[in-house]
Amino acid sequence: TIVANKEFTGNPRRQLAKLFEVSLKLTVPDEPNVEPLIEPGKFGDYQCNNAMGLWSFIKGKGTQFRGPPAVGQALIKNLPSSEMVESCSIAGPGFVNVVLSAKWIAKSIENMLVDGIDTWAPTLSVKRAVVDFSSPNIAKEMHVGHLRSTIIGDTLARMLEYSKVEVLRRNHVGDWGTQFGMLIEFLFEKFPDTDSVTETAIGDLQMFYKKSKLRFDLDPEFKEKAQQAVVRLQGGDPVYRKAWAKICEISRNEFAKVYQRLRVELEEKGESFYNPYIANVIEELSSKGLVEENEGARVIFVEGFNIPLMVVKSNGGFNYASTDLTALWYRLNEEKAEWIIYLTDLGQQQHFHMFFKAARKAGWLPDDDKTYPRVNHVGFGLVLGADNKRFRTRANEVVRLVDLLDEAKDRSKAALIERGKDKEWTPEELDQTAEAVGYGALKFADLKTNRLTGYTFSFDQMLNDKGDTAVYLLYAHARICSIIRKSGKDIDELKRTGKIALDHAAERALGLHLLQFAETVEEACTTLLPNVLCKYLYYLSEEFTKFYSNCQVNGSAEETSRLLLCEATAIVMRKCFYLLGITPVYKL
Ligand code: ARG
Repeated sequence: TIVANKEFTGNPRRQLAKLFEVSLKLTVPDEPNVEPLIEPGKFGDYQCNNAMGLWSFIKGKGTQFRGPPAVGQALIKNLPSSEMVESCSIAGPGFVNVVLSAKWIAKSIENMLVDGIDTWAPTLSVKRAVVDFSSPNIAKEMHVGHLRSTIIGDTLARMLEYSKVEVLRRNHVGDWGTQFGMLIEFLFEKFPDTDSVTETAIGDLQMFYKKSKLRFDLDPEFKEKAQQAVVRLQGGDPVYRKAWAKICEISRNEFAKVYQRLRVELEEKGESFYNPYIANVIEELSSKGLVEENEGARVIFVEGFNIPLMVVKSNGGFNYASTDLTALWYRLNEEKAEWIIYLTDLGQQQHFHMFFKAARKAGWLPDDDKTYPRVNHVGFGLVLGADNKRFRTRANEVVRLVDLLDEAKDRSKAALIERGKDKEWTPEELDQTAEAVGYGALKFADLKTNRLTGYTFSFDQMLNDKGDTAVYLLYAHARICSIIRKSGKDIDELKRTGKIALDHAAERALGLHLLQFAETVEEACTTLLPNVLCKYLYYLSEEFTKFYSNCQVNGSAEETSRLLLCEATAIVMRKCFYLLGITPVYKL
């Protein structure tokens, strides 16, 4: 027997691919580079789809085979024997259906219980990646669009980290725009002594922004001053730099509170960080003949777009695009990142596609977007209100992130109190659980939809304890923990000594689903679609429910095996929660 590849422990899809790779080489020795096409099966557990394509490829070349089913038969015959495969059969036009051995599934789960869930982590072929996410703008409030960027970006970063990729989590904050001219001038007016400025003195930075913008729009003299201020700031005038730093600091502290509540870690490298490098980068692009004069500005024409990408404004200043080109240069050359992933709403798609194109033209990136170094813009749709329009408050204002977090927590706390938990638990327990459930619900509601579509924001829906919600899933997990607790057994002892048997159909189905965790994470990473993992998690809880309603656990003859299945389910669920940035709770 060939022991399925150790490199892909707990990843049956990959392990099967390895076996079929051998079989393909034996079956069609003249076609050495055929990639095995393995996917979850409709009839068996998996299927291999190579026979049909291979047939149309070889039929004109005088092959011994007579049709795709015969190719499929040969693929089965040449499959190295392995303890993972129970049986294979041909279906339809030539699909090879594979049934895995229940013993092998059980053994793989036993191994995971002993060695830990990290042994199931997928291995990606990338060493270092940048995830550029959240990235709010200084002096403006973080809103629900930044919430999506933060939540989706954090999840992608977590999944990549789990897959052994070193991730540079970058907060590309907007800290270097022309808006700083007016903000600084306004600050000078209000607080002639910048040292005395504190957070409380400025109060609401968003209000401060609005008021200064009003001045800027209405008072030409102020406008003039503000424009001068930008020049001074960018020229490095220490007084202006100090005022700028102050405003950034106040904003930063506000953002930090949100990140702390969401438990998201980020390293700030804002737009200003790249400023010292921009001139050189534009110079390099110019020397490659990419930069042209256009109506006083300097631009790069890129194929497929009817407007050029502006990289130097007519007044000589740099902009969003020049900063992004420079950040890309820095990430590729200084940080040696092989994969750079950007999260913003779909409204910015054109900007990203244009500067990616410019970078390809400069030879920084390969022409296709599959070879590394690779860049991806991960765009997402809008968050909508009940009226199906962009999500706004009643007063038609941008919804502030902190208010959403407060409400999610308050509502889940009220629901816990209604169930009498305030009498069972300490105030800290109540508070922590309300946060875990409330923030978890907010995150899951965002992550479970395909990010390309928008979704309608509804507290009632996301906090429902039935259906596809974090609340339901957190309950399911807590219930499993309680089954294990109630058994009175030492689960760590059982893990070391107990055996799993998957004799009942519901046990086998649950076991197989558990074993598909790694390949699901891998798929979510390669497609950059976290909803793939959400769906997996939801199905896992459904498979568990089927198992639990068909198979008695505590007090049954199969108690040990079934408790181990419960434990494995709880472990995989917790890993899913972790990857989705959701804090699990053990009792609810
Ligand atoms: N600050 C921008 C915004 O709020 C997002 C920045 C995204 N990252 C980037 N490298 N362009 O819209």
